[in-house]
Amino acid sequence: MLEQKSILTGVKPTGKPHIGNYFGAIKPAIIMGHQAKRFSLFIADYHAINFMKDPELLQKEIKEIACTYLAAGLNPDTDYFYRQSDIPEINEITTILYAFTPKGFMNKSHAYKAAVDKNLADGKPTDDGINMGLYTYPTLMASDILAMDTDIVPVGKDQIQHVEIARDIAGAVNAYYNKELLKLPSYITADNVAVLPGIDGRKMSKSYNNVIPLFDDEKIVKKAVYATVTDSRPLEEPKDPEEIIVYQIYKCIAPNDKVAEMAAGLREGKLGYGHCKAMLLDAILAETKEAKEKYDYYMAHYDEVKTYLANGAAKARPYAQATLQRLKETLFG
Ligand code: TRP
Repeated sequence: MLEQKSILTGVKPTGKPHIGNYFGAIKPAIIMGHQAKRFSLFIADYHAINFMKDPELLQKEIKEIACTYLAAGLNPDTDYFYRQSDIPEINEITTILYAFTPKGFMNKSHAYKAAVDKNLADGKPTDDGINMGLYTYPTLMASDILAMDTDIVPVGKDQIQHVEIARDIAGAVNAYYNKELLKLPSYITADNVAVLPGIDGRKMSKSYNNVIPLFDDEKIVKKAVYATVTDSRPLEEPKDPEEIIVYQIYKCIAPNDKVAEMAAGLREGKLGYGHCKAMLLDAILAETKEAKEKYDYYMAHYDEVKTYLANGAAKARPYAQATLQRLKETLFG
């Protein structure tokens, strides 16, 4: 069903990915993308400056995210891998889309609403610290998607609304000029993809400080794994594996037969938590070993990565140029 489709997704370079991102989002997106006719993955650097402006930090995070995706299996030859800022037409298209974007869409957008809610909760003025980039970012995101004639955007639940906004804006443009200037995108949420719990059992997230790091030194990974919360029940007590955080993480990572082995051991009271943690650590190291080697290689040879990104932009840009040209011809003749 995907082989005729173009799939696109963007990633904000904000923070080094952890194993929750890796197994819950990065790998599944690449696997899905590789079933499509065209897979575009771009680094959303214009989006990032709404949140973070320190150039050194930004460059570091762009580098880490680019190397992570390559390590995870992104193919720079066959995929479209680029930086948003290398395709200036996206910004020109954004300006056109503004004219078709109801302001109310922006007021209702989750990212903006979350920032407002936080301000109100903190007793600050409604729009305190909120810049126009954040306010209007669904329109830029719409342009990211529409510029590339995207059929499908794989998303987490938090991004569904933004794809719907993109679709609505595209529909408005097409309706106004009575022709199909822009392809209407849909989203797909990979519901077989697990949300990895963190070491405290809540969703794994940097903001909860409960992550297991990715591509870090074994010692650091081990420390996080062994800090996973467990209870004080004795080893022999039969346990429901689904209640055990170590197991919940393990089942998102380890091969099925190993997962069944841990489940049985817990159920029969034959497997202690220490042993389970050792199994989890082994699984993480085994499942990321090859990728970590690639990651280390790309981090040490970043010039190669920059070339990939430049080539990717050169490949993607004609799509954005064609979209812009279609729009301008219709708008201005
Ligand atoms: N808004 C997305 C996020 O916060 C990143 C993003 C920007 C994106 N443009 C996109 C995702 C286009 C999919 C398609 O994660």
